[in-house]
Amino acid sequence: MDINNFSRYSSGDLESLIEISPNAEFELCRHDGIKYIKGHNVLRRPDDFAEFLSKFPAEDRNISLQRNEKTEIDSSAPGFQQYLKENYFAKLNQKLFKVGYQMKLHRYPIQRVKFDNFTNCCYPGMLAFQKNYLPHTDRFGIAANLYLTDPGTKTSTSFYRIRCSSGNVYHNEFELSKAPKEDALELKARYIDEGANASWEPWVFFRGNDFYDFYYEIPAEYNSVSMYRGNVWHSICYDASPESKVRYSFVTAMFAE
Ligand SMILES: [Fe+2]
Repeated sequence: MDINNFSRYSSGDLESLIEISPNAEFELCRHDGIKYIKGHNVLRRPDDFAEFLSKFPAEDRNISLQRNEKTEIDSSAPGFQQYLKENYFAKLNQKLFKVGYQMKLHRYPIQRVKFDNFTNCCYPGMLAFQKNYLPHTDRFGIAANLYLTDPGTKTSTSFYRIRCSSGNVYHNEFELSKAPKEDALELKARYIDEGANASWEPWVFFRGNDFYDFYYEIPAEYNSVSMYRGNVWHSICYDASPESKVRYSFVTAMFAE
């Protein structure tokens, strides 16, 4: 073991990677069933941050499953994710938390909030597994996605409402929790069961169908952040053809204990 093989940083080095740009701007937006925050020109050094993050090891669940290996990853996100330790990114997490609080996206008390950090990496040629291009909701309260690359092709976070055959429409889990039982069962049949029976297929640029009604998207622009509640149905729009480049984002997940 050679000590020089380790990647070591000072706290100042780490803070400089996540330094907010003096030109950063945040706005609260509302559209139909969603309220979200969009930030522009967020980091001062997004490329350095992307380069730093790319060094974290990752299990690519697609590779594990293709080799018939057991995986402990229970996220159904496409591409691969890197699981990071949140204390390296405390200043950025707190900044995003504060922006969310001041703009009234959430009312989490700072003493009770917990952060989780990971990345999402989508890449040309990646496959879909169990229809993971279909909309989902997240387990955590708020997601802030910071986009660190420009794939060069259209990409966004897209939002959907569920249109049940009863005629009822749902934007989020809260609305669904008050729904008649038939609607909840229909969702289960359409999402969980349909996905579980499906296996590998080329990644689909999903824009909705008879059940998932696409109504909005936030473009995943380079060095922008989009922050929204995890309980709304959403998905990733990404073109996985060879014309695209990597879509790499850093995620701050927030929840109150
Ligand atoms: Fe999500």
